[in-house]
Amino acid sequence: LSGLQSQAIGLNSHYVKLTSSTNDLAKELAKEGVKDGTVVLAEEQSAGKGRLGRAWQSPGRSGLYFSVILKPEVSPMEVTQITMMASVAVAKTLERAFGVPARVKWPNDIYIQGRKVCGILAEMAAEADKVRFIVLGIGINVNQSIEDLGMLEQTATSLRAQVGYIVSRAELLKTLLEEMDYLYIKWQQEGFDPIKKMWKDLALWIGHTVTVSGLQKTWAGEMVDIDEYGALVIGFADGTRQTFYSGDVSLRMS
Ligand code: ATP
Ligand code: BTN
Repeated sequence: LSGLQSQAIGLNSHYVKLTSSTNDLAKELAKEGVKDGTVVLAEEQSAGKGRLGRAWQSPGRSGLYFSVILKPEVSPMEVTQITMMASVAVAKTLERAFGVPARVKWPNDIYIQGRKVCGILAEMAAEADKVRFIVLGIGINVNQSIEDLGMLEQTATSLRAQVGYIVSRAELLKTLLEEMDYLYIKWQQEGFDPIKKMWKDLALWIGHTVTVSGLQKTWAGEMVDIDEYGALVIGFADGTRQTFYSGDVSLRMS
């Protein structure tokens, strides 16, 4: 990653042509011991994964698939904040560098005009109440054509489909890692408040009626806020509020 202007994120990096999932490879490397901010990048993933055991389509040549190993001194409750930090970094980078109206969807997706362009999957290893490391996985649809998206055509998009030209994945990666580095330092120095504010300014559906789906149950209410951990706060017609955590539920527009 030559010419990268960064304090931590991307200073060390590993590149592989093919792996099952950069998150899994990053976890193996993290167990062996690596520096905070190490990036694991793959050209292609054979078993890219999303939240709640779902699959992430990761064809070679067209997408960006990488994981960042982070070692902040935090408790497991604070890990969702890192997902929000990464979401803000992706959305801001896409807006600034390509002029597209990127928005964040709780907890871990980036949308452009109603279609998903990026997904983020944070995993962690913790002992007692202390995080040993976090693996922050990011997948972006960059140069897929609309035909390449295939079955996902109705729900997903790529940067190329939005801007109409082939995008340099290396340039995108560099700009994004620099933005993440800036926000990671800000988060460590100033806490979650400034990130939370940026996230809310970019968020889909705040103030709107949404549906929250768990394994057994579905709730409908107004998306009011996110709390100090990044959990979703829903207000109901009877005036009560409930907080939902990202490991448990999915969010949809009603
Ligand atoms: P939510 O995150 O709100 O629970 P989701 O449907 O976005 O719902 P995730 O687990 O975040 O679910 O993401 C995985 C889903 O993303 C898959 O079920 C699939 O529908 C979709 N998906 C898989 N690969 C891609 C891709 N390359 N681009 C866009 N979407 C994809
Ligand atoms: C989601 O939308 O649920 C998250 C998708 C995350 C995909 C990225 S691609 C790089 C990293 N490796 C994986 O297997 N998943 C993440």
